[in-house]
Amino acid sequence: MNLNIALLKGDGIGPEIVDSAVRVLEAIGKKYDHTFNFTPYDIGGVAIDKHGIPLPEETVSGCLAADSVLLGAVGGPKWDTLPGNLRPEKALLGIRAAMGLFTNLRPAKLYPALKGDCPLREDIVANGFDIMIVRELTGGIYFGERGMREGKYGEEAYDTECYSRMEIERIVRVAFETARKRNKKLISIDKANVLESSRLWRKIVHEIAEQYPDVECADMLVDNAAMQLVRNPAQFDVIVTSNMFGDILSDEASQITGSIGMLPSASLNETTKGLYEPIHGSAPDIAGQNKANPIATILSAAMMLLYSFNMAKESQNIIDAVDKVLNEGYRTPDLAHGAPALTTVEITDKIIERI
Ligand code: IPM
Ligand code: MG
Repeated sequence: MNLNIALLKGDGIGPEIVDSAVRVLEAIGKKYDHTFNFTPYDIGGVAIDKHGIPLPEETVSGCLAADSVLLGAVGGPKWDTLPGNLRPEKALLGIRAAMGLFTNLRPAKLYPALKGDCPLREDIVANGFDIMIVRELTGGIYFGERGMREGKYGEEAYDTECYSRMEIERIVRVAFETARKRNKKLISIDKANVLESSRLWRKIVHEIAEQYPDVECADMLVDNAAMQLVRNPAQFDVIVTSNMFGDILSDEASQITGSIGMLPSASLNETTKGLYEPIHGSAPDIAGQNKANPIATILSAAMMLLYSFNMAKESQNIIDAVDKVLNEGYRTPDLAHGAPALTTVEITDKIIERI
């Protein structure tokens, strides 16, 4: 196959980790006879510096024209004082909206080789865990009406959580389909004891559940879910939740896997086009030092092969190569606990050698 991939390297460690994933994709292309053409576009802080805005039109059209998009990370202290609509993060929301990426898949699993990095007690993770978080990505409070106004006590700010039936139905369907392909257990997380939007969410989950009698489905309140994730993570298979709850819970889930540097994500719409990115940020403190863990981005590329290009064996080949490298004891500094570690480039070389 001949495929066009837009690269949004972004800020901080973004360029280094995307370069690693590109090298891995090139190795896969060579082995399986695919051609991947990469075109870089500016996003985030670098785009602000070059074009004055975080998401130039050219970047949006480039992503829409490509077969798929690989993103590093955006943001950094340099741009932290800009107004909300000019911040690098705004570009991330903008590209998600422009591509209609309403589904965000965030797998969080415990690697046997990294069990020692999990902050939970040994007996809690004795049997490991493997969770797929299905996060709604283009609705809710991230995109609801917001603003400033004069209130009863003077200046006030507001953000609105709003979900339409259509938005809930489509993400819940994706979650049931995902559960069907896994262990057939779905937990929908909401705050239906307080929020009207959650009550509609829950009602729709129950309606759709009737069409999936083979999937065991339950509701959980978000505060309880935050607790259950550290009390007994193995109880979860697939989670479906709103944009903001998914943002928060996926960081929590990543931490119990040992390192946020390991977790990939896929953002999808109704087509096969997607945007793939690590769930971690731009880590400006270690940027440009060849120290970053590229595995989350490399695994995001593996997700791209599976979800956008239907290349199951190529995708699995990357996952297996990462597993081997970890099982052989190779670590980047975030996982080395002060012991000698490999650089970004070196661990990428090890992964490529095993492809
Ligand atoms: C994420 C990030 C983004 C989000 C930020 C950077 C806007 O935290 O992808 O999880 O909140 O969605
Ligand atoms: Mg987040």
